[in-house]
Amino acid sequence: MPRSSLRRPGQDLDLSRHLIDTDNLPETLSSGSLFGNHLPLELEIGSGKGLFIDNAASMNPNHNYLGIEIIAKYAKHSAAKLARRQSTNAMMISGNAEPLLANLVSAESLEAVHVYFPDPWWKKRHRKRRVLNESSILNLTRCLRPGGRFHFWTDVLDYFENTVELIAEISPILGVPIPEDKIPATHDLDYRTHFERRSRQNLIPVYRVRYEKRDR
Ligand SMILES: C[S@@+](CC[C@H](N)C(=O)[O-])C[C@H]1O[C@@H](n2cnc3c(N)ncnc32)[C@H](O)[C@@H]1O
Repeated sequence: MPRSSLRRPGQDLDLSRHLIDTDNLPETLSSGSLFGNHLPLELEIGSGKGLFIDNAASMNPNHNYLGIEIIAKYAKHSAAKLARRQSTNAMMISGNAEPLLANLVSAESLEAVHVYFPDPWWKKRHRKRRVLNESSILNLTRCLRPGGRFHFWTDVLDYFENTVELIAEISPILGVPIPEDKIPATHDLDYRTHFERRSRQNLIPVYRVRYEKRDR
């Protein structure tokens, strides 16, 4: 399904506090290095147009939010939303989440990891490109604090089932999948993400789970 076009951020909008590119990253990604405080840090992989990070950061001012988005124009679009709202607890990185999670995020440092509607890579030979794979699951497990959450929503049943099976096999410390409910949508921004809105409006089933990492 084609994606709708993006509104360009105004040229005079200052994105310097809301968008970092991979050449300017701190040595570790943490609330301290990014936000200068020690609030719990939640990470979103693949923020797309940024509906989740923008809403979540405005609803939870006592947490920080970091979105990583590999397509530069989407990262910029999401950062522009945060900048327009002058958010002080959310920012975007324009880059590939996998090496950043593997190399720049300390063990047990995250409050939550969010992955919503990751690209499905339907063909079997392309499956290894999926953002949720063996190594990223092990990495996100390592980065979550005990009690920290992993949220995974998708409309691709095969991706959902494979990921739930893979987690049970390689990362049982994440515990059991806990079903999450959709929120009732009374207007166009009541959805968790743009892809959730698209699926629900097209009556496509969505599979939603949360994990809560055990102590051991
Ligand atoms: C299908 S879209 C979903 C966007 C958003 N989460 C939503 O639900 O509306 C998947 C997004 O993940 C991004 N993405 C894919 N691989 C990524 C990676 N390795 N690191 C960061 N973002 C990635 C894509 O560019 C795309 O914006």
